[in-house]
Formats: sequence, structure tokens, C-alpha cells
Amino acid sequence: MCGIFGIISKHSYELKQALQRLELLEYRGYDSVGISTLDKNKLNVYKSVGYIKTLYDKISSKKSKNIICHTRWATHGNICEKNTHPHHIGKVCIVHNGIIDNYKDLIKSLNLKDKLISDCDSEIIAQTIDRQFFINGVSMSSFIDAISLLEGSYAILAQVQDCEKCIYGVKNKSPLYVGKMEAGYVFSSDLIAFQGLIKEYYELNDGECFIANGQKITFFNMYNIQIEKESIEFKDFDYSSSKGEFGSFLEKEINDIPQALCNTLFHYKNSTHKIPDLKEYKQIHIIACGTAYHSACIGKYIIENLLKIPCTCHIASEFLFQEILTDKNSLFIFISQSGETYDTLQALLKVKDLGYKTLGITNTTHSQLSKICNYCLPIYAGKEVSVASTKVYNCTILAIYFLCKKKDIDIDAKLLTDLIKSNKEDELAKEMCKSSTVIFIGKCEDYVSAMEGVLKYRELTYRNAISYPCGELKHGTLSIIDKNTLSIAILTQEKYANSIFTAINEIKTRNGKTALITTLDVPKDTADYIIKLERKKNMPINLYSIIPFQKLAYKSCNILNLNPDRPRNLAKSVTVQ
Ligand code: AGP
Repeated sequence: MCGIFGIISKHSYELKQALQRLELLEYRGYDSVGISTLDKNKLNVYKSVGYIKTLYDKISSKKSKNIICHTRWATHGNICEKNTHPHHIGKVCIVHNGIIDNYKDLIKSLNLKDKLISDCDSEIIAQTIDRQFFINGVSMSSFIDAISLLEGSYAILAQVQDCEKCIYGVKNKSPLYVGKMEAGYVFSSDLIAFQGLIKEYYELNDGECFIANGQKITFFNMYNIQIEKESIEFKDFDYSSSKGEFGSFLEKEINDIPQALCNTLFHYKNSTHKIPDLKEYKQIHIIACGTAYHSACIGKYIIENLLKIPCTCHIASEFLFQEILTDKNSLFIFISQSGETYDTLQALLKVKDLGYKTLGITNTTHSQLSKICNYCLPIYAGKEVSVASTKVYNCTILAIYFLCKKKDIDIDAKLLTDLIKSNKEDELAKEMCKSSTVIFIGKCEDYVSAMEGVLKYRELTYRNAISYPCGELKHGTLSIIDKNTLSIAILTQEKYANSIFTAINEIKTRNGKTALITTLDVPKDTADYIIKLERKKNMPINLYSIIPFQKLAYKSCNILNLNPDRPRNLAKSVTVQ
């Protein structure tokens, strides 16, 4: 993934200002950070392992007119300074977002083995450009020759010695935007970093590159032919995000759920969204990753129950390798909070190529997903900052009810707020942190909640947990039950009660600890811990049955004293394969 940001201007900018912009891209990765300047024909590089804030001391009040910087999510090469961008080779310094698939081939074919100073695929970009500039001189044609050797995904910014007033850039399968300032240009992986800075921007297409100085920018295609690009008006929408009274974005975002659901419902009831009529399709497919995939799995139950149309859910990265066997009259729905997830976008392109109709559901209206799909249904959850997705999950499920034209939905904000503010989960969270293994079980929709509960718990606590359909335990997994395991069952429908009670009894018999999250009135001795969920007429339980799991993960994370907003090894938006 990674985030890149750059400035070329007639005026000097403090490096600190560039890093503040880069902080808006930190959701893309936060393993290490680097910045470089080109001044008096000298490249100066500063790097640090960890969050962007760790670099502020190293740059003090330095200024420059030519700055590129990078926040890294490591894919190739471990997390250390030498693998941190910018990569400085010879006369060239680059930052890169993406993956160079053929970097090993290039090391061989260009005989770079003894010249390498890092373990990072991105270094090969700097090596290749520097080599080409050395052979053919510094020019756009040499830059393109070097870039043409690369296979994979890349958004690249490059500074070149002897070319102090310029920044080169290119994009292929990774996002890159160019903002037009009064006296220069800014470059970023996401429009978010341009807020308050520009009025117009350019969006690069794959295979487009540029050279920019403080006065002008010239775009080229990969045949070195100059191209004209139209600038787009930059609408300075509210990207602001503050934790408010809360200790973390995660806590805030769980507390946002009632309001987010109310806002989403309000928009659906009061504005006209151009959405397809699901009943016109013979088959529906939903494609997504991670938490978005789990909301898709709940969506399958909603669509099949309400519309009786067969619906299949696919994990995007798996779908890419599957044959598409479906009725010609099928609708493909893509769900993505960010709208930028690589696997989801690749699956979308595959489906579009085959001519199927596509609908995107996303919390990010300016995303690639909303641009590429035939239809787009926004969700109005508000900005989600924490890497762990919470409120968007609940709102996505509401979006699916809306697609199914379910009209009689009311959100009882008070009931949800009471549920979120209660301390019902505290004791159970402590037990989870003591247990060797936590097993989440459920049936049908409740099993999907169990899957999402596990994802949240793993993501936020770095501890292992598994989810199982309750009826499957006896086919193998019961063997892991002992007094150190904790099994948490969820039960929101009377018709599943017998299956869940049977599973709980089988676990108890083998000395395993048990917990039950349920909407039903059950005897106190049903499980060691019982969390009661209130039901409300016209508020489908699927919209909020996940909340206890979201809270359990958050509370466990607090007990273990871990960072709730930035779990290790992860990033908010996964824009690589
Ligand atoms: C959720 O907590 C995760 N951070 C992750 O699974 C996420 O849902 C997934 O990467 C998909 O992201 P998207 O919704 O932006 O496509």
C-alpha cells in the first residue's frame, strides 16, 4: 500500500508541512516514514522507523521547494531504515506505492545484484531510472524507458540531481493525484491530503506520467507523446476527523454507530439514489474483502429472505481466480469501505470486462469503486479512521436492506446507545484475554457475526481465535475444547436455539468455558457468561447484533494495552495484491 506525497513549488515549504499532509495518508501504512529534498543540487534524505511523528525531530525546521515523502506498509523487505523510502540511488531519489512484480528479473537482467543497498522491490525503480539517465541523459524519454521495464503496480515520484526544479511522476494500477497550487504542484496517493491547499487537480490514468516544476506540468503517455489533461474542480469536503471526547478513533466509531445508522437511513429515505431493481436479476453476486465480505455474507441472507433471488458471496482475492459461471442476467455488487481495495477493484474490472452490470456500495464517494461501477450506493457512516472497521459494517447492512426496498426500518438510537455504553461485556473480555483459545460460534447470520467477531478480535488483540458454525464443532473442532478454552455463542433467532444449546452443552461436558450473547430469555445456567441483547420491532437484529463483538474486541485490546487504532502489520486501505 503506502502513501506518497510531494511538493514542487517556487516557494519553500517546511518539511513539517509535507509530513502533516503525509499524516493524512498514514491510514495506508505506518511501518516507517521518510522524506527527501533536492536543494542546491543535493539530495537530502531523512528516515525513521515507526509512525510519521517519529520523523519530526530529525527534520526540525528545514524547508525546501522540492520535497517527496512516503509512509510505508512493508511488502518486500522487513521494517528497517534501509528499506524505508525514499530510495536514493546515484542521482535519483524515489518514493513508490505498489509492488514491482518483476524486480528479481530486473536484478538479474540489469546486473544489479552487487549494487543493491536494501531488500525492497522499490529500490529497483531508483536503480533503473538512475541507470537509464546515466546512459541516455536526464529526459522524459529516459524516464519512460526506465519505467517501461517495470511490471506491477506503481505510483512513483522521482527527484533527479541536475534537475532541481522538477519532479517526475508516473502511475500504473496505484492511485496518484496532482494538485495545482498557485505556485507549483502537490502530488498524493489520495485527494484527502489536498484539503485546503488546492482548487483544481488532475487524476492520472494508468500509463500516464508527468514532469512538473513550480510553473507548469506536462503530461505524457508511455510512448513519450505529450497529452493534454483536463483539470477537475477540487471539492473541499469535510475530511476532518477528531476523536472528540474518546480515547481512540475505534471507541469513537463504535459510539458513532447509532448516529451513522440514522444518517444513512435518513439519506435513503429522503434522497433519490439511482439504484438497480434487484428483482430484475436472476442471480446476485457480492464481492468484497475482510469486514466488507462479512457484511456481504449478511447481505446474502437478507436478499435471499426478502427477494428470493439466489445470492453468492465471494472473497475478492479468491474470485479473481475463479471461473464465472452465472446467468447472463446477473448483478455483481462490490462492497468496500475505502473503495480502493486492490483485490475488490481487480474483481470489479474482471466482471466489467465480461459486460455484467455492477453496483458499488462504499463509504468513499470519490473512490475508484464508485467511479468504475455502473451504479453506486453511498453509505453515510462518516469518516472511519480506525483500521478496524466498525460503523461502516452496520451501515452497509442497512444499505442492503435499502436495496431490497425494505421500507419499515426504524433506528432506535437510544437502544443502541445504551447497548454501546453498557459494561455488560467487561467480565467476558477479561476472560477472553485469559483463555488459550477463543471460539466464536453461531448459526447462519449469527455465524457470520461470529466470523466478524473473530476478525475484530484478532485484528485488535493479536491473539488467535476461530469461528465455527455450531453444528460443525462435533466434526473435528470439539477436540480442542478443554478448561482453558472459551466458546462464545451468539443466538438471535428462536429457530436456531436448539442447535446452539446443544453445542453449548457439548462444550460444557468437556469442561470448556462458555458465553452466550442472545436476544432470547434463557436460564442463568445456560452459559458461564450471558449478554442479553434487546430486540426492537422494525429494527432488524442484523443491524446491531455485531455490537457486543465489536465491544469485546475493543475492550480486550484495552486490557492488553494495545493500540486500538493502528494494529500492528495492518493498514486501513489495502491497495496491493
Ligand atoms: C476490517 O476491520 C479490516 N481492517 C479489513 O478486513 C477491511 O474490512 C478490508 O481490508 C476491506 O477494506 P475495504 O472495505 O476498504 O475494501
